[in-house]
Amino acid sequence: MNKITAAITAIGSYVPDFVLSNQVLETLVDTNDEWITSRTGIKERRLLKEEGQGTSFMAIKAAQNLLEKANLNPKEIDLIIMATATPDMPVASTGVYVATQIGATNAFAYDLQAACSSFLFGMSTASAYIQSGKYKKVLLIGADKMSSIIDYTDRATCIIFGDGAGAVLFEPNTDGLGLQDEILKSDGIGREFLKIDAGGSILPASEETVKNKQHFVFQDGKTVFKYAVSGMADVSEKIMERNNLTHDDVNWLVAHQANKRIIDATANRMGVEESKVLINIHRYGNTTSATLPLLLCDFEDQLKKGDNLIFAAFGGGFTWGAIYLKWAYNK
Ligand code: UT7
Repeated sequence: MNKITAAITAIGSYVPDFVLSNQVLETLVDTNDEWITSRTGIKERRLLKEEGQGTSFMAIKAAQNLLEKANLNPKEIDLIIMATATPDMPVASTGVYVATQIGATNAFAYDLQAACSSFLFGMSTASAYIQSGKYKKVLLIGADKMSSIIDYTDRATCIIFGDGAGAVLFEPNTDGLGLQDEILKSDGIGREFLKIDAGGSILPASEETVKNKQHFVFQDGKTVFKYAVSGMADVSEKIMERNNLTHDDVNWLVAHQANKRIIDATANRMGVEESKVLINIHRYGNTTSATLPLLLCDFEDQLKKGDNLIFAAFGGGFTWGAIYLKWAYNK
């Protein structure tokens, strides 16, 4: 029998309706459209404004979009992996709630957290379950409500992040399509540069932590940028070398949307031309766990069976990596 690989066979997405433009941000903090556009490539982002709703709201909608498009019975799903840095609440797994809400009653579910690399690492996890032959349908969802942890008086972070969700289905393939190779990395040196100080086990919530705004994201952007540029480019170049892929062989670069300049630097190192680089950062900003599946959905029409995709991400922790995947279907 041919080797089993894990192929993406269906995708779905959801972004909230509410648009936060650079022009509106100009009225909230000392910034301007020109600075944001030239430094990051972002023009607008989506925010979830529904009262009392969290990340699961968007994850459910993305999963339902996939189920509808693929005409899939949710009872057939074996496992749901929920990649997120902004779970609905501590302890009770968001993925478990999502599974029940979409009717995936035969699946087990859990959350996976690796900051902006959550979805990329989730691809590796989902793929390993499929390759083992143990499960046949693994749903990986990437969703984040970044607006719940952003201080909209802090111009260093509020211009960057947005909310969104995407979902992909992994199934076994014996024709050599799907996930081919991965390079995943982490380094605890990054802990100080991108973090939320309070609300965890080191510094539980108190009046003091709320007053000091310690429940919001802190980012030393310059340092993260430096590590992101070299980290993402290194692994992307390495995975090409290791699989004997030239820039002509690569059809698409599917890179985490944190900053257009980081994506450009990665594409340059790979020698991949601009027309092969999937970009939607101008519309959504950095949606953390949702950037990669949102790219797949926005460009689904252009992805062809057999295409070589290089996924790449960099995030807090630090966490980063690259995945080489052969696309498995024509829309
Ligand atoms: O997804 C997880 C991983 N995260 C990332 O990959 C993000 C990595 N970092 C970045 O994308 C960039 O560092 C930022 C977009 C966050 C910042 O861009 P930068 O080019 O590194 O700017 P900077 O922090 O070096 O600041 C340059 C200047 C400073 O002014 P001076 O000191 O040169 O006078 C800042 O005070 O720009 C100023 N500045 C701003 N000006 C207008 C900083 N933020 C803003 C702002 N609007 N929002």
